[in-house]
Amino acid sequence: MLSLKNKHAVVTGGGSGIGKAIALTFAKQGATVHILDLNGEQGEGVVSEIKNAGGEAQFHACNVADHKGVAEIFKQLPALHILVNNAGISNIGSAETTKEEDFDKVYQVNVKGVYNCLAAGIPKMKEGGGGAILNLASIAALVGLQDRFAYSMSKGAVYAMTLSVAKDYIKDNIRCNSISPARVHTPFVDGFLAKNYPGKEKEMYEKLSASQPIGRMGTPEEIANLALFLCSGEAGFITGSDYPIDGGFIKLNN
Ligand SMILES: NC(=O)c1ccc[n+]([C@@H]2O[C@H](COP(=O)([O-])OP(=O)(O)OC[C@H]3O[C@@H](n4cnc5c(N)ncnc54)[C@H](O)[C@@H]3O)[C@@H](O)[C@H]2O)c1
Repeated sequence: MLSLKNKHAVVTGGGSGIGKAIALTFAKQGATVHILDLNGEQGEGVVSEIKNAGGEAQFHACNVADHKGVAEIFKQLPALHILVNNAGISNIGSAETTKEEDFDKVYQVNVKGVYNCLAAGIPKMKEGGGGAILNLASIAALVGLQDRFAYSMSKGAVYAMTLSVAKDYIKDNIRCNSISPARVHTPFVDGFLAKNYPGKEKEMYEKLSASQPIGRMGTPEEIANLALFLCSGEAGFITGSDYPIDGGFIKLNN
């Protein structure tokens, strides 16, 4: 079950957090994993970890926001079976307090970055006879999150792109789904706390943990396990769906 043998998988942002856990999990299940990440040191580190465990992986230095750069990288890849659009950045602020340059940056990475990888990755997937695309959305796409205006905008777009791609490519044997996690404990969260709540990191960590009714944050491995299922042959009947993985955040928080 859940074998990815002989599959080529791209994981954007595979150098850290959720993307790293997905890359490690997919490689363990037999996939050759192509990590596309801005951060060379971290990306190469994950490749070494995979190879040391007997798996196959390659690192490709990539800014997903760069349309031409992304196209060049995908051109060099073999036929693809799996594409995980995971690279993303966070931002804090309301419609009034979000600066224009921050709104644009979140759009460039979280929205245009996904478009760039879809536009370059889908032809590669057609070459391989079809496959599975998985986008990292967020609970922010589904419910209002306080002070996350630009981030919510971007994840709402990821959710809508998921539906559009699922519909457009169903005849090409390409499935497309998204995952919407609540808070997951990754460097993304630690960086966010350090930047926005200096000196109050522990207190805020506990507050953020308690905002999931289950009483804690998710782990990257828990997200990776759902990603594995959705990208495997066992999920062959699933397309155009979003999966909240949220410790009860959406349905049990009232
Ligand atoms: N951690 C959470 O609580 C949480 C919750 C919901 C959704 N998500 C989503 O999951 C995804 C991964 O989050 P994470 O917590 O693992 O983040 P992370 O910060 O730990 O890792 C993100 C990775 O993406 C890379 N990256 C950032 N910008 C890039 C760019 N322009 N081009 C290429 N690579 C780039 C970083 O170098 C890093 O390796 C994001 O899309 C995020 O929005 C995270």
